Amino acid sequence: MQSLYFTLHFSTTSLVVPLFIGLLLILLSFKVLKWNFFYLHPKDKRLPPGSMGWPYIGETLMLYSQNPNSFFSIRQKRYGDIFKSHILGCPCVMISSPEAAKSVLVSQSHIFKPTYPPSKECLIGPEAIFFHQGPYHSRLKKLVLSSFLPSALKKAVPHIESIVIDTLSTCENKTINTLQEMKKYAFDVAMISAFGNNMELEIEEIKQLYHVLERGYNSMPLDVPGTSFYNAVKARKLLNEKLKNLIQKGRESKEIRGDRGLLGVLLGSEDGKENHLTDSQISDNIIGLIFAAHDTTASVLTWLLKYLHDNHDVLEAVATEQEEIRCRILEANRNLTWEDTRLMTLTSRVIQETLRSASILSFTFREAVEDVEFEGYFIPKGWKVLPLFRNIHHSAALFPQPHKFDPSRFEVAPQANSYMPFGKGAHSCPGNELAKLEMLILLHHLTTTYRWKVMGSNDGIQYGPFPVPKDGLPVTLFPINKT
Ligand code: HEM
Repeated sequence: MQSLYFTLHFSTTSLVVPLFIGLLLILLSFKVLKWNFFYLHPKDKRLPPGSMGWPYIGETLMLYSQNPNSFFSIRQKRYGDIFKSHILGCPCVMISSPEAAKSVLVSQSHIFKPTYPPSKECLIGPEAIFFHQGPYHSRLKKLVLSSFLPSALKKAVPHIESIVIDTLSTCENKTINTLQEMKKYAFDVAMISAFGNNMELEIEEIKQLYHVLERGYNSMPLDVPGTSFYNAVKARKLLNEKLKNLIQKGRESKEIRGDRGLLGVLLGSEDGKENHLTDSQISDNIIGLIFAAHDTTASVLTWLLKYLHDNHDVLEAVATEQEEIRCRILEANRNLTWEDTRLMTLTSRVIQETLRSASILSFTFREAVEDVEFEGYFIPKGWKVLPLFRNIHHSAALFPQPHKFDPSRFEVAPQANSYMPFGKGAHSCPGNELAKLEMLILLHHLTTTYRWKVMGSNDGIQYGPFPVPKDGLPVTLFPINKT
């Protein structure tokens, strides 16, 4: 009996397995055909060239199994400046010509709305500026921009300078993880731009909760107890309460608003019922600002140290420019001012070239709100559209020898729409002047007082979440002997 059973079992298996595989193959090829047919021939319109990859997973695995920049540039070479793909569950059109990127971000921005995964929107807060268009967005943008006017930035210089001096002195004669140190620096500056220099008790608690939130933001959105995402959702709720207390205090004591960063500006906008911003509108935008300001600036600062380390001539030229400014400051027996930073021409070009070369925001996401005829192609409603900043910044036609770190290329203004490290159009970065100011102040003290040596292997890139030098660029920082 038993042997019969096994024989029967075996013979059944030998029939079932090939049958199952055969069926699976037929099903898959049908799915692939249907998948591609579906995307190749909607309503007899011409979609951009490109591959939609496998059913459902599209080209996501390919994107994640290689350097994302190679993924995009290989496809650009194969299909041209506009091509389609399917990543992270969404059909997409990738765009790498300056004119087409401008159309998406500026001229036709009403058709292409910003889009973010729901988990990110829930953690930052749905009323934050990034997620909106139209009058609410314009109103917020004016308020945010007003907190980064030169008049506001001038006042921030002494505070930023004192953070720089503290940061550098604690790193002296140590091997540090550059990215981690730059994150601390950028975070402290972001807190000043959000709340001013008034360090109340709540601010310390807000800092702790923000770090829990940040960990969850960059993890799998799994809302199950014990996961980073779950803890982040809890931290976000607590953050709301802390922020509510601060907002309440701010509403009661009107006179100190001027020194309270974006919080003061948002509270100050309440000049009547019509213009009233609710507590959650204020807190979502405060959290949003800290998010936008923090990892971005830290990643670029890390690249700055890497490029200056690898390009000795450029480092010496920057040091000479900064030394001249330092001598003037010492002679006048004063601290660094906003006006000094306006004289840092060569250092500014180094920052411009770092932003181009590193292109830490390789692309941004938009979504077509209706069917669109675009540059001779059809983009269906709901498709994502990705202007590829990095591909544009690395085009040899726009930036000759794109892989060379050459700040002198910015002695001449770049071709229109070819340089967008801070985006373009209504959603372009309102914090760009602050970010550059942070870099200038750090470079002033770093290059006039210190040198640094990269430890370990010098090359390689990691993604966390932005591209940064491998292992966060470990360096040893040592003071230079001055006579
Ligand atoms: C080097 C550092 C930075 C880089 C490379 C950067 C880049 C960008 C880019 C490319 C965008 C546009 C995204 C899009 O169109 O989808 C953006 C938006 C934004 N950035 Fe920055 N950013 C940096 C630093 C900052 C800082 C320091 C702040 C604030 C203190 C800030 C606040 C914002 C905000 C609020 C938005 C949203 C604007 C809107 O939706 O209207 N960023 N940033």
